[in-house]
Amino acid sequence: MKALILSGGTGSRLRPLTYTGAKQLIPVANKPILYYAIEAIRDAGITDIGVIVGDTREEIRRALGDGKEWGVKISYIEQDAPRGLAHAVKISESFIAGDDFLMFLGDNLVRDGVTDFVQRFRDNKPSSLILLSRVSDPQRFGVAELENGRVKRLIEKPKVPPSDLALVGVYLFDNRIFEAVNAIKPSWRNELEITDAIQYLVDHGHLVDSHVIDGWWKDTGKSEDVLEANRMMLEYIESNVSGQVDADSQVIGRAVIAEGAQIINSTIRGPVMIASGAKIVNSYVGPFTSISRGVHIVASEVENSIILEDTHIEDIQTRIDNSLIGKNVQISRIRERPRALHFVLGDNSRAEVQ
Ligand code: DAU
Repeated sequence: MKALILSGGTGSRLRPLTYTGAKQLIPVANKPILYYAIEAIRDAGITDIGVIVGDTREEIRRALGDGKEWGVKISYIEQDAPRGLAHAVKISESFIAGDDFLMFLGDNLVRDGVTDFVQRFRDNKPSSLILLSRVSDPQRFGVAELENGRVKRLIEKPKVPPSDLALVGVYLFDNRIFEAVNAIKPSWRNELEITDAIQYLVDHGHLVDSHVIDGWWKDTGKSEDVLEANRMMLEYIESNVSGQVDADSQVIGRAVIAEGAQIINSTIRGPVMIASGAKIVNSYVGPFTSISRGVHIVASEVENSIILEDTHIEDIQTRIDNSLIGKNVQISRIRERPRALHFVLGDNSRAEVQ
């Protein structure tokens, strides 16, 4: 069996972060989202992985290389534009070369991995196995309508959802999916939809098995989702303090403080992750915060947030909470009068002040 990871697309809902980087590489608990997919696939025993890349191809290639680091073999498949998930399958036919395959959307996180689903597919041998999860906002997803436990209908982002069963971004297929992706037409949003391709399998009498997962799953399409994923993953960390914590600081609860990080006269209340080269001075870092390499936090309080590489936060009097802050951002306090707010924010930034 092979695997396909979809890492093209534009990430428009995560702008401005995705102006400068791939959404699949945003770190959650200081690890790029995409790495969790590679690990889940490898743990399921699949080592031949094709990664679909688009505009952010260079960055994705730099991050994954040839896969050796994970003990897998990665091939890159170029998609000229985000023409849909089924289009990504279509252009992968020669890579798949008649095998069964697992398709994993590169912005999805499945906490318990995919090993059980791969086994179920191998045991039952359907044409496709889809995974479903109950959600409160099904109109954001592909939605399944079941009849006596069998898939009857799949609809992409319905205005009036027929159920609360969202399609999780992990699918298993045998090679009949290629007949489907070659037969369907683009949707109203001009994409070849994988939901339509699976519907084609249903309509042509092929067995589409479904499984409602009860473990935690997240499509990290929006900043709130990324922060929630970060909270979820930090729940599982084990303490490891290798960095430097001075005598005036305290670390309470579970924290990973990497070698080369410095904590000076500060309070760290876990679960928290602080990467190498980060420096926390006269500050408070509260629960569910991930701090990337080279971040400086001075005389400030941060919690429930993700702060990316080389950002400097200094002397901010109100606690920073529930925030996703990109790379190399400067947040500081102005001392002269008038005490106005000064912003240099990229397109689609969001700043909420009191
Ligand atoms: O996350 C689950 C949902 O994913 C499903 O419920 C939907 O049925 C499915 O269509 C998909 O919806 P999204 O609108 O969230 O898909 P998105 O455009 O975000 O793309 C998912 C991943 O696939 C993302 O990592 C980008 C990549 N992609 C996307 C397209 C459209 C590609 O590599 N190529 C593409 O052409």
